[in-house]
Amino acid sequence: MNRIAASFSAVLLAVFMALNLEAQTPVIEVQVNQPGAAMTPYQFGIFFEDINFGADGGIYAELIKNRSFEFPNALMGWSQTGAQGSARVMERESQATNNRHYLQFNASGSGFGITNSGFRGIGVEQGKEYAFSLQAQNTGAPVTLRIELVNASGKVIGQTKLRNIKGDWKTYRATIRVNGTDAKAKLNVIAETSGTVAVDMISLFPKNTWKGRPNGLRADLVQLLADMKPGFIRFPGGCIVEGRTLAERYQWKTTIGEVAERKLIINRWNMEFRTRNPERAPDDYFQSFGLGFFEYFQLCEDVGAEPLPILNCGMACQFNSGELAPLDQLDPYIQDALDLIEFANGSVASTWGRKRAELGHPAPFNMKLLGVGNEQWGPDYIPRYEAFAKAIKAKYPNIQLITSAGPNPDGDRFDFLWKQFRGLNADLVDEHFYRPPKWFYDNVHRYDNYPRTGPKVFAGEYAGHVSVKGRPDKPNNWEAALAEAAFLTGVERNSDVVTMASYAPLFGHVDAWQWSPNLIWFDNLRSFGTPSYYVQKLFGTHHGTNVLPVRSNGEAKQVYASALRDAKTNDVIVKLVNAGTTATEVRLNLAGAKATKAGKVIVLTSNDLAAENSLTAPTKVAPTEQALKVSGPEFNHSLPAQSVTVLRVHCEK
Ligand code: AHR
Repeated sequence: MNRIAASFSAVLLAVFMALNLEAQTPVIEVQVNQPGAAMTPYQFGIFFEDINFGADGGIYAELIKNRSFEFPNALMGWSQTGAQGSARVMERESQATNNRHYLQFNASGSGFGITNSGFRGIGVEQGKEYAFSLQAQNTGAPVTLRIELVNASGKVIGQTKLRNIKGDWKTYRATIRVNGTDAKAKLNVIAETSGTVAVDMISLFPKNTWKGRPNGLRADLVQLLADMKPGFIRFPGGCIVEGRTLAERYQWKTTIGEVAERKLIINRWNMEFRTRNPERAPDDYFQSFGLGFFEYFQLCEDVGAEPLPILNCGMACQFNSGELAPLDQLDPYIQDALDLIEFANGSVASTWGRKRAELGHPAPFNMKLLGVGNEQWGPDYIPRYEAFAKAIKAKYPNIQLITSAGPNPDGDRFDFLWKQFRGLNADLVDEHFYRPPKWFYDNVHRYDNYPRTGPKVFAGEYAGHVSVKGRPDKPNNWEAALAEAAFLTGVERNSDVVTMASYAPLFGHVDAWQWSPNLIWFDNLRSFGTPSYYVQKLFGTHHGTNVLPVRSNGEAKQVYASALRDAKTNDVIVKLVNAGTTATEVRLNLAGAKATKAGKVIVLTSNDLAAENSLTAPTKVAPTEQALKVSGPEFNHSLPAQSVTVLRVHCEK
């Protein structure tokens, strides 16, 4: 809009407001006839990290912990059962394998075996089927193994037998149908006959994984992600990208192909809070990479999200060792990035494109975004980013690179990085906000005055942090979610600058978390979205193609608003956050909209700021939807106290 038109309509608005004799009804005008910036189709997405048992013990549906005896304590998670026998961890002679260990047990009578306690138990459900498999070798007389699932009180709730185990290494499979539900079951592998048998890769998956895939993902958790209609999935983090040391960094090439050969490493979150809070240091947290980069790309495709891998840029976590790869030794790191792009996008004639095809996906994944480093800061980051950018842009000029603004949303580190990345005309800069609710309200207008040229913003890790005296965790309560919603109206209004946003972290296992709050919580059987989940879902599922300018007469003191047009449906979408403690009636003016038809209204609210969802009350704070009847482009609407409202009004073309 040019200046003259802008001041003319400002005068009109002022006159209209002055004449609005319904006195103080706050007016919110959406300039439907002045569509602003086009939005990225993938603005609201997902931050995934294997923290809080997010992958192993979480979305990766494997139920057996330390299935291949590769943990440094090779029997962690396992115990012996029965007296007549012994079990010994053996090391393979060949160095050319990442699957270095297996277990040999000698049973001198029936009833000797081993027990796995899963990830804080094994979650199994009545009437469901589970796919069991193990690799075994037996050079002696044939052996029969009985596989049992027992509940927390020791009752067998499912079993099968593997008979005639003999000869060289082979994979044996069986299905176990379960006749009892327990989140804390255990698995026994018991010899029914005397003999010596070597076993490895002892595995149990629900048959009902997401899309029924073998080596698959937990269906309930993926469904929660799919329901968000995520624009992108950032993966694999987070600090585990960086590792405590460079040797422990995430390396994508070790996460594809034969599952048994994926090289296990310690999860950085195994150690992180050991000194500060030993109860949160889990000891048994390792990365099996059963959920690796192929499964990740497949997940993105399944839920319609853009892949956004984040790669190590030659810097270990600066909260840990801060180890640096010397600049003249960065080539392998950069090559990993180039190869990942080829793995995702290359033709089947290329080296890495062929590998993708061999894994079952000849079509490219069309990756467009790539993060260089996670939450790096300081001058060492800049030349490393530059080296990556030079090589990647030379070969793949259309790949958008994400850089970091460091761990804080302001301050010297932040200012330094922004100055550098502006100077370098980077594509996107990733800002992180783990802050109290007040910060989110104070920052609703944060992006109104950001420069409109230069790097875009990726609000890549945000979460309202509330401290409650006496609680070890930071609750995912309505107070935090409401503040996040207010902030997201500012993100949405400034979609031309903030092109991407994601809450962090994503997952928390109720019995094995290191970090809170998290978007989604789960145990071994159940899962639920937090109020923050529903906020992010509302923004993700009610997305548009263009921002619409919103103006108010300032009467609605604690009301925050953003508006969009969806050119595909011709809907006007207005998001209204009432952070006040009383209901507020507002007058909506969809200026310039042609005759409007009925629409719908979706409300997320609670009169209790401390309200939380839980495993037993998963939707205490969840949206409700109703039809919306409007007679024209102007109408009054009442916003409940402490609420997020989405109005969808269908307009005539
Ligand atoms: O989301 C948890 C952690 O917060 C991430 O791993 C890191 O990027 C940030 O410090």
